[in-house]
Amino acid sequence: MSEKNPFPNENNSGHIWDNDLRELLNDPPTWWRIGFHASWILVIVYTILYPSWPMLTTHYKGVMGWTAMGEYKEDLQSLEQIRAKYEDQLPGKSAAAIMADDELSNYVMKSAKVLFGDNCAACHGGGGAGNPSYPILADDDWLYGGTANEIITSITNGRKGVMTAHSKSLSTAEIDELANAVMKGEPTSSPLFMTKACFACHGPDGKGISAMGSANLTDGIYRFAEEDQLASIKYTITHGVNDASDPATRNAEMPTFGGSKLSETDIKKLAIYVHKLGGGK
Ligand code: HEC
Ligand code: HEC
Repeated sequence: MSEKNPFPNENNSGHIWDNDLRELLNDPPTWWRIGFHASWILVIVYTILYPSWPMLTTHYKGVMGWTAMGEYKEDLQSLEQIRAKYEDQLPGKSAAAIMADDELSNYVMKSAKVLFGDNCAACHGGGGAGNPSYPILADDDWLYGGTANEIITSITNGRKGVMTAHSKSLSTAEIDELANAVMKGEPTSSPLFMTKACFACHGPDGKGISAMGSANLTDGIYRFAEEDQLASIKYTITHGVNDASDPATRNAEMPTFGGSKLSETDIKKLAIYVHKLGGGK
């Protein structure tokens, strides 16, 4: 630092390094000062308008009365107004009437997708793609029938198909014969189908009876689809389905959603969704 200021006519602080490197005392630029003042004014105005300062047991609420919760509730209300246009029509309309209305069924598909994800996808898979031992809902093969009303009944009352175990009434050779006939899609080609009373539940043509949920055995679509399909068929014939007398029986129970679990309108929505997913009848 030099003794005498070599730049006396300049607004410097007198701090000079290396003979000419010096500190000036200029005012900050105007644009910067405007920005600085605008920002603290904004902070004060903001803290007056909106909830801000914490206090001992509460907080300053702001003169606008704004709350995050209030804003959320307003948004929700306007959303419900949009929904109400459709929701109000649903209880009075049959599933068939809703499906005939493009705008209404579009709304139902979107709304039911969420319901399906929450209540059904854990068993039936996303989009009704099925899971081992839970039936596929996205195809046109139905155990209990694929009309909207049959689907509504499935969801409302639940389903529990019963097939008796045959481990005691059939020999291994007989089970083999029947399983191979089913595998070929021609269950009736084995005389055992009649003599061992399979027809009583699966129908004389082997195509199933929807009132019982007995699977169609002629279409090559398997309710209990497994990698080794022949072994899976043998297992079903041997141990049956939901037969309490056989501890190894297959369990297949569709829970009841009627009553307090889901409203009638939600069930109607889901039935339309499932109907449209696959080949509703
Ligand atoms: C706990 C598992 C589970 C849940 C959750 C579940 N299901 Fe099911 N569902 C089943 C089983 C198992 C069957 C087959 C019942 C049988 O074989 O007797 C079935 C059958 C059905 C059927 C009849 C299919 C046919 O081919 O006739 C429909 C329709 C159906 N479910 C729809 C739904 C809908 C919609 C939901 C959601 C509200 C749902 N399920 C939730 C297990 C479940
Ligand atoms: C008491 C009625 C009943 C009798 C008797 C019966 N079944 Fe079944 N069977 C059913 C029902 C119901 C189902 C479907 C169960 C379900 O999905 O919940 C079924 C399912 C099956 C399946 C599984 C099909 C699939 O898609 O995976 C096979 C295979 C089968 N039965 C073969 C037979 C044969 C062979 C006989 C004769 C030995 C027979 N059943 C006798 C009611 C019966």
